[in-house]
Formats: sequence, structure tokens, C-alpha cells
Amino acid sequence: MQVILSLSKGDVRTRKQTTNDQKPPRGPILAMLIKELIRALFNKQQRFRFRYHCVRNLPGEYGFILRRRVISKWMGAVGRNLKVHEGFRFRNIELIKCGDNVNIGVDAFIQAGGGVEIGDYAILGPGVKIWTQNHASSRTDIPIQQQGAEYKPVTIGRDVWVGANAFIMPGVILGEGCVVSAGAVVGAKNYPPYKILAGNPARVIGTRQPEQPADKAAENASSSEQ
Ligand SMILES: CC(C)(COP(=O)(O)OP(=O)(O)OC[C@H]1O[C@@H](n2cnc3c(N)ncnc32)[C@H](O)[C@@H]1OP(=O)(O)O)[C@@H](O)C(=O)NCCC(=O)NCCS
Repeated sequence: MQVILSLSKGDVRTRKQTTNDQKPPRGPILAMLIKELIRALFNKQQRFRFRYHCVRNLPGEYGFILRRRVISKWMGAVGRNLKVHEGFRFRNIELIKCGDNVNIGVDAFIQAGGGVEIGDYAILGPGVKIWTQNHASSRTDIPIQQQGAEYKPVTIGRDVWVGANAFIMPGVILGEGCVVSAGAVVGAKNYPPYKILAGNPARVIGTRQPEQPADKAAENASSSEQ
């Protein structure tokens, strides 16, 4: 199988994929697995990874209880009633801070190397991704892989709702009550409270209006009739 390395004009280089790429690991798989498990027993972080792996996709109420229990010991901060649905993944969980009543959807993924704060009552829909890291890419003389990374924190305000499969870029600040539509790609900006964002790149398409209590609305209507 040939892999194209560069598509710049007149410089199409390819490399043969070596059979080494597909070489199976050495030694019987079971022995390796046992070795890995023993190693994990003596390493706090590995123990946590294994434990979380066991509960990550657990369905039902026990799944919620166990995921919360395993995760919250490692989070930077965690409020009451954190609800984590099946399949949630993360990096640098110690840099995630959650308020009360946060709801994290199925298969959400938070990369928190730069720090992530999630306010009370925030909802992350299914498949939402929050990223706080970019590859540095300012140089063209060396591969991007060798240029290190840049980190920017993300803040999800109180009562924010991030719709399914939205992607939140490093550096985003979503003010209280913002709504992000499904599939939006939200760039590094500071969004004021109650804005509704949609699209790729995400734009503000509206502002949530506070609902008037019924008696106040009637009062306003009668005064405008006079
Ligand atoms: C953001 C959202 C809540 C808005 O819903 P809504 O108030 O019913 O809004 P509407 O569908 O009437 O759309 C309002 C306007 O925004 C636009 N809009 C809505 N979603 C959009 C999107 N993803 N991209 C671009 N424009 C969008 C509509 O075209 C419409 O524009 P128009 O007034 O010019 O016609 C909804 O679009 C959404 O994304 N919901 C998330 C669903 C989800 O992820 N559920 C999982 C549960 S956690």
C-alpha cells in the first residue's frame, strides 16, 4: 500500500508502508495483559484509567453513580449532582472544574490540558468536543509534530447548553445562558451571556430573551393600549 506524503506541485513523494506497521506485539497477548494489569496495580494514575475504563460505558443508574464516583476524585473541582453519560472521554481530567448539576452527554470528549471550567447547570450534548490545545504550526521548516503545543483555557458559563457534536475551540468563553447549536464549531472568542450560536464558524444568530411573568405581560399590554 502506498501512502502519499506531500501533494505540493512537482513534489509528490510516497513511501511504502512497511509490514512492520502491522507486526503483532511480541509474546502471548494474555501474558502481556496480565503484566499490564500488574503494572497498573502499582500506579495510581493507571489504576484510575483502568477503573474508569471499566465504568465508561456502563448503562443505567449504576453507570451514572460509578462514573461520577471514579471521576470526581481526579477532577480539579466537582460540584453536586454531576451526571456523566456513557462514553465520556477526557485528557488531563485534573484540569477540569465543574460546578453543580453539570450534565455531560454521551461520547463527549474534553481535552483539558489548558484548563476547562464548566458552570452550574451546564449541559454538554452528545458528542460535544471541548479542546484546549493546538499544535504550534508557525514554522514551516520542521514538522508540526516537533513544534510543541499551545494551550488556552475554555470557560463554559452557568446554564450554557452546548448542542450535539459541537466543537469548542481553545480559548472560548461562553457567557451565562448561551446556547450553542448542534454541530457548531465555536472559535476562540468571548461570547456575552444568553447568545445563541450556530454554524461553522459559529456566529451569533440570536439572543435569548427573558420570559415575562404573566401578570407583568398583561400590565404592559394594558398600559400600551391606553
Ligand atoms: C440552537 C437551537 C436550539 C435553535 O433552535 P430553535 O430556537 O428551534 O431555532 P430554529 O430552528 O427556529 O432556528 C432559528 C434560526 O437559526 C438558524 N439555525 C438553527 N440552527 C442552525 C445551525 N445549526 N446552523 C445554522 N443556522 C442555524 C435557523 O436556520 C433559523 O434561521 P432563520 O430564522 O433565518 O430561519 C437548535 O437549532 C439546536 O441546535 N438544538 C440542539 C439540539 C441538540 O443538540 N440536542 C441534543 C440534546 S443535548
